[in-house]
Amino acid sequence: MPGIAFPKILFGGDYNPEQFPKSVWDEDMRLFRLAGIDIATVNVFSWALNQPDEETYRFDWLDEVMDLLHAGGMYACLATGTAAHPAWMARKYPDVLAVDYQGNKRKFGRRHNSCPNSPTFLHYSARMARKLAERYKNHPALLLWHVNNEYGIRCYCDRCERAFREWLKQRYGSLDKVNEAWYTRFWGHTFYDWDEIVLPSGLSEGLDKGDSDKTAFQGMTLDYYRFASESLLRCYTTEYNAIKEVMPDAVVTTNFQGNGTYKPLDYAAWAKHMDIVALDMYPPSDASSSYTALRYDLMRGLKDGAPFMLMESSPSVLNWKPVNPLKRPGIMRLQSYQAIARGAETIMFFQLRRSLGAYEKFHGAVIDHAGHEHTRVFRECAELGHELAKLGDALTGSRTESKVAILFDWENWWAVELSGGPTTRLKYLDQVQKYYDAFYQNHIQTDIVGIDADLSRYDIIAAPLLYMVKPGAAKSLERFVEGGGTLIATFFSGIVNESDLIVPGGYPGELRKLLGLWVEEIDALFPNQKNAAVVKRENEALGETYTCELVCEVVHPEGAEVIAEFADEFYRGSPALTRHRFGEGEAWYTASDPEPAFLRMWAAHLCARKGIQPPLEAPPGVEVTQRIKDGTRYTFLLNHTGEVQTVDIGAEPRIDMLSETAVSGVANIPPAGVLVLKG
Ligand code: GLA
Ligand code: ZN
Repeated sequence: MPGIAFPKILFGGDYNPEQFPKSVWDEDMRLFRLAGIDIATVNVFSWALNQPDEETYRFDWLDEVMDLLHAGGMYACLATGTAAHPAWMARKYPDVLAVDYQGNKRKFGRRHNSCPNSPTFLHYSARMARKLAERYKNHPALLLWHVNNEYGIRCYCDRCERAFREWLKQRYGSLDKVNEAWYTRFWGHTFYDWDEIVLPSGLSEGLDKGDSDKTAFQGMTLDYYRFASESLLRCYTTEYNAIKEVMPDAVVTTNFQGNGTYKPLDYAAWAKHMDIVALDMYPPSDASSSYTALRYDLMRGLKDGAPFMLMESSPSVLNWKPVNPLKRPGIMRLQSYQAIARGAETIMFFQLRRSLGAYEKFHGAVIDHAGHEHTRVFRECAELGHELAKLGDALTGSRTESKVAILFDWENWWAVELSGGPTTRLKYLDQVQKYYDAFYQNHIQTDIVGIDADLSRYDIIAAPLLYMVKPGAAKSLERFVEGGGTLIATFFSGIVNESDLIVPGGYPGELRKLLGLWVEEIDALFPNQKNAAVVKRENEALGETYTCELVCEVVHPEGAEVIAEFADEFYRGSPALTRHRFGEGEAWYTASDPEPAFLRMWAAHLCARKGIQPPLEAPPGVEVTQRIKDGTRYTFLLNHTGEVQTVDIGAEPRIDMLSETAVSGVANIPPAGVLVLKG
């Protein structure tokens, strides 16, 4: 359902009034109004409160809260509240209790703890969603639905094991096919009966003590990961369907965790079942601005460029990291505009009022324990709230135009890191981030998409670590390059099929024709060990030499032109970087992991060849991005540095939407400053 239109960029977050006496609620409403807050996510952890036993449901407190929100002119993002099952349910129906990787059955406790294949959980969560939908379907405060919360568990119980066998029957049809896909003649694993198959856990195929990825059978573990992601997705769709049966037009979502790059869940598959994508963003304290930028672009790409929700972020501190620094003045605002610049249409916090007890009492909130508005954090929130009110609907529904895309795929991520070689230092996200940074630092807008996106609208596609080539992927990339596109491919690509079985006959397997080369050997480098690449003289636009590390491959060109050669080791003089003309386009291949400065230059070089330009030139540390609505362009300039930065905006005056003044010529942007230029 594309095109969910919010009336403005909504501002608010998680609100847990059930933790406070009612006397506080009116004061909350006053403070929300003061801060320009217009949306509250309610009922996230209230299952036990709403359903004290098997047959009793009571929603009187929620009725009051919903009415109060409406009276205060606010919207409700209504949660189904199923992310923590009630204690009575765990006691009466132990099937809701999950089993961990080491085979320990959980007791009641914490949250996000239900077995996704528990009939009790599926039954009662759907029933709760339906009851809420029936009760609030006509409530004027209700804007959208928030199913469960940050789905994420992997369960290893016997019921999940049986469900996995059924899933395999569906996927493969016969045990022979399973044996083939999993390569079970290795270590004597041939299965003769479906019931012989057990989940790959710390008790079976796991090779490490912790809940790690290392497994004896990658094909089996990949299938379990697929199954586990789908099991949770079914929990979500069960509630989704229960709501839609009552309210066919409801807008339903759930909040993604892990800053949008949560490894266990294939969010690309999930997004297909969400009316709008929503994520929670808690970046590491030392995260670069491109860390968050990448993840917002990924969220936007999940639904073909549609806007998404920033469902949670902290207005100030976290409580769950070893050290939880304050967000410095201005940083929350800067980070919020970064999300908007990349497609967010809500700025929402966890949480609106800081809880008084239990685990999250030191987590940041708009309203602090002091309980009033005279705090720095409240003031900063209120200032942002008023700016967003002024912006109105100017930016809602706007889109991003990118000529560059980076491929991202969860199953490939799993497979790369399940592999027992060449090096455990090979991390998919690190590689994706490096290529993203190369374009980001050139202020070039990038989409992050799956292989099934319409690739023809891009001029350049980077496919870092395309280790697993799924059916049809090589053909899509060939078509893209044939049609004039530029492909960037890297070492350790084209190695396996979707079962993690090697494509025999030489790497990079199905990509060999397109890349015009054969990779004979793969050398892994120790930390601090480096090689260098010497750029051949005719390619001086790419400099003279650069260092590279991690992995070096021994490559034989089969039609590709050599751009740079290794300087060291027995493979000195063999290709480090190649380019293969294919149809109207060209496919580049790097046989090692180059230093970031080289990647930046390479990206700039390729963009220049394609005539791709940034929306504006800006100094390092100033993020530039653009959104377009009804033909009007809005250029965001975000100063992530600690100093004043200058940007030449050009002679033509443009309106800065935030200060509502005309700017032209050289503009000064203060530290953490933001400009949103219209036109
Ligand atoms: C997650 C959860 C919230 C809260 C925050 C704290 O995002 O969804 O309920 O625990 O973390 O940062
Ligand atoms: Zn289970």
